[in-house]
Amino acid sequence: MKTGGVLLQQKTKKNINITIRNLTISDITHQYCNWLNDKETNKYLESRFTEWNMQSLLDYYHQKNKSELMLAIIEDDTGTHVGNVKVSAIDKNHHRAEIGIIIGDKNLWGKGIATTAIGIVAEYCFDVLDIHKLTAGAYAENLASINAFISNGFIVEGQRKEHVLTPSGWSDVVLLGKIKSQE
Ligand SMILES: CC(C)(COP(=O)(O)OP(=O)(O)OC[C@H]1O[C@@H](n2cnc3c(N)ncnc32)[C@H](O)[C@@H]1OP(=O)(O)O)[C@@H](O)C(=O)NCCC(=O)NCCS
Repeated sequence: MKTGGVLLQQKTKKNINITIRNLTISDITHQYCNWLNDKETNKYLESRFTEWNMQSLLDYYHQKNKSELMLAIIEDDTGTHVGNVKVSAIDKNHHRAEIGIIIGDKNLWGKGIATTAIGIVAEYCFDVLDIHKLTAGAYAENLASINAFISNGFIVEGQRKEHVLTPSGWSDVVLLGKIKSQE
């Protein structure tokens, strides 16, 4: 399973043109650190347990980039890096991988960017990386994330009870999966 250069483009349903390409060192910015440190953005992310700075983010990038497909979401009109998609837990034996997403620019939430990005990255995983099954996990309260996966044909496969501790108490984690269409 080879993860080569990625360049994917699509318009969201609200007519925002996005490009998805490999995340590079030049994308490791203070702005990206701010996304991960922002209390609202990281509320449902494991990244909230780390205080991010340029060095820790660079270390994270170098470590993860070896085994995971780290992708940047670019808003084409402004050329701005607005979020990331990560394809992780790539299992060559079982042809499985996990998708994670963050839209860091909160002004762009609710405009269909996550839904579109998940859709085109899922298609890339199935068609190019020969993935048979994609999985995702979301805190049960994270309805925007769950909806974005469901809109792309993911189904809820299970719910782990009180699996994570959030600032507002114990929370379930919803497990989602999508199997490559046989058509
Ligand atoms: C979760 C997140 C990725 C969603 O990104 P987004 O670009 O705003 O999502 P979309 O605009 O594609 O919306 C996804 C769906 O959720 C719905 N939605 C958006 N906000 C919602 C909310 N607060 N409650 C319920 N549904 C919501 C949208 O209407 C859409 O559903 P639809 O297609 O049926 O209309 C983004 O808010 C984010 O990055 N949050 C912080 C990081 C995070 O939580 N990542 C996911 C970890 S699993």
